[in-house]
Amino acid sequence: MRKPFIAGNWKMNTDSHSAVELASGLAGQLKDVHTVDIAVCPPFVYLSAVAKALNGSNIALGAQDVYFEPNGAYTGEISCAMLKNVCCTYAIIGHSERRHVIGETDELINKKISAAISGGLLPIFCVGELLEEREAGKTEAVVARQVKRGLAGLSSDKVLAVTIAYEPVWAIGTGVTATAEQAQDVHRMIRQLLAAMYDGSVAGEIRIQYGGSAKPANTAELMACADVDGLLVGGASLKVDDFTAMIKTVV
Ligand code: PGA
Repeated sequence: MRKPFIAGNWKMNTDSHSAVELASGLAGQLKDVHTVDIAVCPPFVYLSAVAKALNGSNIALGAQDVYFEPNGAYTGEISCAMLKNVCCTYAIIGHSERRHVIGETDELINKKISAAISGGLLPIFCVGELLEEREAGKTEAVVARQVKRGLAGLSSDKVLAVTIAYEPVWAIGTGVTATAEQAQDVHRMIRQLLAAMYDGSVAGEIRIQYGGSAKPANTAELMACADVDGLLVGGASLKVDDFTAMIKTVV
């Protein structure tokens, strides 16, 4: 059975004080939870401080992005080794804000996923359609293209390092959540695609998170879906009580 995995994406929020306070608060509240994998993904500049606050806890650390080159003249970028050096286990890759605000392509995302796995990080690989794509009936085609291109060239053993996060762009930060049925339909399609790309056992092992206005009130319904294995949480992960409540719903 796939162990539930709930991750918090803090995005460009918190400061050096509130980041540590949030991490310490979560470490305290969640210390007895062992049946859910938990991670938080603070901004790069607070990773070290948050790593210290989480030391000895059952909450893993993730970064919000990673670059595919190992080192060199790439101003502003951060390598896998740097993230490992500050105790990161996960890296979010291909988040819709990076695809649509920063302009990342499927090809760049594929290079990042591949480099992250080779560098010992576990990618949280985000996919999801825009509102106009959903309205035009293109959800499956868009998500399938992102999954195929993002995972291109990855062998079965490598792909097992990946968690996929299905995040419909129209649901991110908008307060509009996909219905459980809408989420399940896309999650099932992704799992069938993984079975076709790899095999049934690989498809059965890979965790698929839902993301997009996930909050305490809709956690139980989303997590009850057969192919929803966890959540990637933005806004609600910035509050100790909300994020804790979501995780305790799943325990
Ligand atoms: P949200 O963000 O929960 O604030 O909608 C989710 C995400 O972008 O990962």
